[in-house]
Amino acid sequence: MRTHYCVDVTEKNIGDIVRVSGWVNSRRDHGGIIFIDLRDKGGLVQLVCDPNDSQSAWEIASNIRDEFVISAKGKVRLRGEGLENPNLITGKIEIIIEDLLVENKSKPMPFDLGDLKVNEEIRLKHRFLELRTPKSYEIFALRSKVSLTARNSLDKMGFLDVETPLLTKSTPEGARDYLVPSRIHHGHFFALPQSPQIFKQLLMVSGFDRYYQLAKCFRDEDLRADRQPEFTQIDVEMSFCDQEEIIRVAQKLLVDVFKSCGHEIPKYFPRLTYLEAMEKYGSDKPDLRYDLQMKEVSDIFLKCSNEIFSTLAKDKEKNRIKALRIPNGDKIFSKRQMKGFEDYVKKFGASGLGYFQFKEDGLKGPLIKFFEKEDLDELIKQTNLRVGDVVFFGAGSKKLVWDYMGRLRIHLAQLMDIIPKNVFSFLWIVDFPMFELIDGKAKALHHPFTMPQIPDNDVKNLDNIENLEDLKSFAYDVVLNGVELGGGSIRIHKEDIQAKVFSLLGISEDEAQEKFGFLLDALLFGAPPHGGFALGLDRLLMLLTNSSSIKDVIAFPKTQKAQCLMTEAPDVVSTKQLNELGLKLKVLNPS
Ligand code: AMO
Repeated sequence: MRTHYCVDVTEKNIGDIVRVSGWVNSRRDHGGIIFIDLRDKGGLVQLVCDPNDSQSAWEIASNIRDEFVISAKGKVRLRGEGLENPNLITGKIEIIIEDLLVENKSKPMPFDLGDLKVNEEIRLKHRFLELRTPKSYEIFALRSKVSLTARNSLDKMGFLDVETPLLTKSTPEGARDYLVPSRIHHGHFFALPQSPQIFKQLLMVSGFDRYYQLAKCFRDEDLRADRQPEFTQIDVEMSFCDQEEIIRVAQKLLVDVFKSCGHEIPKYFPRLTYLEAMEKYGSDKPDLRYDLQMKEVSDIFLKCSNEIFSTLAKDKEKNRIKALRIPNGDKIFSKRQMKGFEDYVKKFGASGLGYFQFKEDGLKGPLIKFFEKEDLDELIKQTNLRVGDVVFFGAGSKKLVWDYMGRLRIHLAQLMDIIPKNVFSFLWIVDFPMFELIDGKAKALHHPFTMPQIPDNDVKNLDNIENLEDLKSFAYDVVLNGVELGGGSIRIHKEDIQAKVFSLLGISEDEAQEKFGFLLDALLFGAPPHGGFALGLDRLLMLLTNSSSIKDVIAFPKTQKAQCLMTEAPDVVSTKQLNELGLKLKVLNPS
């Protein structure tokens, strides 16, 4: 039996007989003496096979290859002078092997472990090998610690861990559902939950008061670096609370989690309203590790002689003219680069991008001719411009300008390399709009169970709302380093308000009954006021480990095309299985 993990064999074991097991990381033959770097989950230790110590062990060592699984017994000794390896925890010692056993052989590896340049397809096909490195193990050890701390923290705050079903009905979180056909009810399908949203609300109606779950969620949506089709939420719900109390719980949970990982973070996170965030940073998840802010300058452009700008500037409800000052930008970026930024924002729908450079002898740039001197002076004042700076202008409809100027802000910060590393910048975004209008139709910005901000929680106050987009909700997001880490809201706990919100969303009474009848019904049986939030566990780990992809922190992730290359899922199924499900396949667009 193993007596030690590799990295636990240290100088204090000098002279001890130890037995270690693991994988052959490398094997070197130095003039008849064979050195083996043995690896297990935690790291490496050096084994020495000298025929003078054990002929049989040496013979076995002569025939082993990388990644063979071995167990070895021997005496620990200090390495010879000058032979220490300062890069290894065990770098001062080695084990003189007297007994060596090959537990299993290994085929040659399809790629070098730890070589990040290897094509992702090959790595994911053999994900179990990629995970074999101590570096991968470290990520999952941290993940395990975060989960455990989250559970302990919530448990201490009086939350009850309750599991909710995976085979369920559609929950509207904005993505497509993964469907599971029923064998017993032909033609009927379960949906895998996009989140436990409705169930956790029902648990509040049950009087459970404080619920949490580390919940698997499934969303069939376009994947990005921080999205997977199957992911985990730290999901929380509580009763008889207001937004402030929920925010306090989320902050405490995050403080505890970060502390367990060795990071002190502030107890209270700063806040911005949704509108402030969009106006200043062009994003509802701004990265506040750097301070490039946009400034509204339509008052100045209103007076310019360029008709396109002055016309846009007139309608302040619909349009925006935003200035983004880049300190020292004129020194950092060439004229060609500045023109290139126009092509960049055009990809996101901008019709153009203006800029002024502040030279020693004043403002320069193609747009100068449209402005009076005093207006230019005012612009310098308002944007706090200094010699050497450049200021970019985006003009157009509100949402478009927010979006492309927000993207430009991030793009420039990355190019200038001004984003500090190893900093955790948290932020709450509050007062989200209840609805957004897409092609004239109202869509819930968070989800349709979110409480709108109406006086006295009186449904009558939802009648005759002039512009649905102006209605605010009790929804909030927590943002970390420009990534939406989590979100939540106060929920609607009154049936009449919920029914009205469904109707504002264009969901007919029949459809509302068919899809959410059980929820509407539950709200009629003494539903308490309640609310909650969910944090993306995978995103949290991604940020904690400074990973560039969410795949790094998920043991068996899916590809960008939502496939598991290792198991080859999704896969075809047999006709027998289809028959049992009462299904006949007609594939419209075979992939
Ligand atoms: P929301 O949809 O904002 O809210 O999700 C909460 C958090 O879950 C994470 N997340 C994802 N992580 C990885 N891959 C994905 N595809 C993915 N989608 C979401 C994000 C996100 O902030 N039921 C509500 C919560 C509530 O209101 O209580 C919900 O699911 O970190």
